[in-house]
Parts: sequence; structure tokens; C-alpha cells
Amino acid sequence: MPRTMLDPLFTAVDAPAFTESHLARLATGTLAAVRVPGFLTPEQCQAATTAFDRMPTAGYDPLRVPTSILHVGPSLNDYRTLANTLDTSRYWKDADAARSAWHRARMQPDPITVALARLGDAWGTAVTPATIGGRCVFGGTLREMNEGALVHYDEASREYPAGLFDQTVIAQLAFNLWAQAPVMGGATTVWRHRWEPADEQHREAYGYRREAVEGCQHVTLTPRPGDALLFNPANFHAVDPNPGERRIAFALFLAITSTGQLINWS
Ligand SMILES: [Fe+2]
Repeated sequence: MPRTMLDPLFTAVDAPAFTESHLARLATGTLAAVRVPGFLTPEQCQAATTAFDRMPTAGYDPLRVPTSILHVGPSLNDYRTLANTLDTSRYWKDADAARSAWHRARMQPDPITVALARLGDAWGTAVTPATIGGRCVFGGTLREMNEGALVHYDEASREYPAGLFDQTVIAQLAFNLWAQAPVMGGATTVWRHRWEPADEQHREAYGYRREAVEGCQHVTLTPRPGDALLFNPANFHAVDPNPGERRIAFALFLAITSTGQLINWS
């Protein structure tokens, strides 16, 4: 009798391309993660890094995110008010500025456009931006994160319980695409654990202390430059620090909606 029983379906798989089955199994929570190695070529990775170094980057609110993470493009969670609504006055201004900077960077091809096209092919319908009052939100931040990320989860339907988008989200997926990846550190871990009220005793800054996931089944992935990764971010996840090396990745969320569409945002 094994000391710990494991869920045989909660695994990380490598695949040549994302498929409809991957998306469905991630959405239902049976599969842990899917990685597509070499999603971008080395030349595309270098172009993205060069573009990142030229674009105006911003940090996150140090009270919310105590580690340094430089990014291009706003994430909805940075504009969440204490009442769990979106601070639209700041958000739309920053979203418009990020779109302009992105166009000026002229990444050819644009890795986000490529990624959304391939994910849409997998699902069978085009991936469209999530909208708020008919207005498209920003999708596809580019971030440099070298100090890791705390254990946390992302779930828009909990973060904005009154709803945020015009679309109704059924399941949310996280997509990451690495332009630069460290040789040491920077691994992503996904635990087979979704938020429960008792987790709040382990609260720390924007996330949770490791005790929240102690003993939980998990997968750990060490990305290489050019790799793409999909997982269900309602599962607690974290990123190890990678001191002395750069970890630069595109990041966006996808959701399957109540009408079976795929939408995206950051
Ligand atoms: Fe996350």
C-alpha cells in the first residue's frame, strides 16, 4: 500500500502541439500541464527579448507584489479595487498605451498572434479578446521575473465575483511562452490543490505560504527558451527564483466560455 495515493491523470505532458483534448482536460482539472517544446524558434526568442529590452516596462505595486517583476502590458489584477471591481480609469489608459508600445516594437511575427492562432486551431474557433462593455481588454503581457513568484492561484470568477467580462467564464487556463529561460532555477510548480477557505490561514502578500500546499501532489516543469506551457491556474502554482539569469515570458489567460468560445486576457 503506497504511503500517498496519487492521481494518475494529474501529469505534465510534452506534445508537439496543443489539442482540443489538452484544453478540455486542463479545463476539467484532470491534466496538470501541457508543454510544447520549441513553440518559438531561437530567432523569435531573441527578437522578443530585444523587443522587451526596448519597450517601456513597469513594476508591480510593491505593497501587493514584494518581488521585482518588470512587465509590458497591464494585468487586470493590478487594477482590482478593494470592492473587487476594475479600476477602469487607470486600466484602459494603460491598456491603450501598452497596445501602442507593442505595435511600435514590431515583433514579426508577433508571438502572441502566433500563439492565439495555434490555440484557436486546436479549439476549432478563433480566440478573441475578453470584452468589458464591448471594449477589448489587453491580452499578452511580456514579463521578466527573476525572483520567482509565491504560491498563488488565478481565477477571475473568484477575483471578480460579480463578473467582469461580457462573456461568462466556465474554466480558465494560463498560457506562458518563454523568450528567455534560465539554466538554473525558474521552475514552475503546479499543485493538485484548488483554493479552499482554510488556505486563508497561510496568506502571504498576494499569495500563500508553502504550508498551503504541503503534501499535495504536484508537477514541476523547467522551461527552455521557446517552450509554451498551458495549465489550469485555479490549481495553486509558484515559480522558483533564478538569480543571475533572465526569465522572460509572454503570459496570458484563456477561458472557455458558456457558449464554448475561447477568450483571452492578461
Ligand atoms: Fe499565476
